[in-house]
Amino acid sequence: MTAPILQITDLTRNFGGVVAVNGFNMTVEHGMIAGLIGPNGAGKTTVFNTVSGFYRPNAGRIVFEGRDITGSPAHRICRYGIARTFQNIRLFGNATAVENVMVGGHVRRKKQWWMPLVFWPGVMEEERSIRSRAEELIRRVDLERYRNEKAGALPYGAQRRLEIARALATEPTFLLLDEPAAGMNPQETEELMQFIKRLRDEFGLTILLIEHDMKVVMGVCERIWVLDYGRLIAEGDAERIQRDQRVIEAYLGDSIDAAADGGGERAGAGPESGTEGESC
Ligand SMILES: Nc1ncnc2c1ncn2[C@@H]1O[C@H](COP(=O)(O)OP(=O)(O)OP(=O)(O)O)[C@@H](O)[C@H]1O
Ligand SMILES: [Mg+2]
Repeated sequence: MTAPILQITDLTRNFGGVVAVNGFNMTVEHGMIAGLIGPNGAGKTTVFNTVSGFYRPNAGRIVFEGRDITGSPAHRICRYGIARTFQNIRLFGNATAVENVMVGGHVRRKKQWWMPLVFWPGVMEEERSIRSRAEELIRRVDLERYRNEKAGALPYGAQRRLEIARALATEPTFLLLDEPAAGMNPQETEELMQFIKRLRDEFGLTILLIEHDMKVVMGVCERIWVLDYGRLIAEGDAERIQRDQRVIEAYLGDSIDAAADGGGERAGAGPESGTEGESC
């Protein structure tokens, strides 16, 4: 086993009387593509929200690259190297693709927000470098033809890639993808699988993804964790998870039916564009 990059121990998060995540444990190794699956409402996004600092856990510990990040705010966790995308796409719909990626670049900006107001030296140079890095990322995720298009007008598949490019602009070592295939057609989904593997290799990332499309999960994830009602019910490689009776009863039975009905997507899982953009 290689060194862990992320260790989650006994993580619990409540919302009123609902225990969304209940004593969850997970250890993700460096360079792995990992999957987090389970039925609707199982607590998957809540795990992402606590790891990325959007929610504080009620109990438990999250250690990233040897540092205890439990309860740290999102902007700090982003600077430590964890970036994420959202289940419902959050782009600035009226800004161009390049401008959206630049938002991610601003997370690493050294100059303060007020410096442009007083023509502080070096501000324009830094802005130019953030723009050229954003343009490069747009090229690397194959969105060049959309670079000056408004994000809200892009096809779903391109919007999802754009969100990933914006996450990459924060220079992460760990990428959390919340349902990257939602809303994609079969061809886009196929391309996404290759894209995720390429991202890991070219950017030297560790990737943890939530996904309901079992073709994606079983095709790219080297290790899979299964949540049900906030609790971990199984952990292992694709073969083991597909054979696990508890997983079949709690989730995979339904998912196989859903896949037969329409590509494994669920109602309500489609992307929403033009909502508030966020960079981490
Ligand atoms: N901000 C919140 N306020 C109140 N309840 C919440 C909040 N976020 C999540 N929950 C509840 O916590 C539980 C887990 O939700 P979560 O979004 O983590 O599930 P999920 O596994 O991501 O589901 P899905 O596959 O539908 O996205 C659900 O019962 C949900 O209603
Ligand atoms: Mg979710």
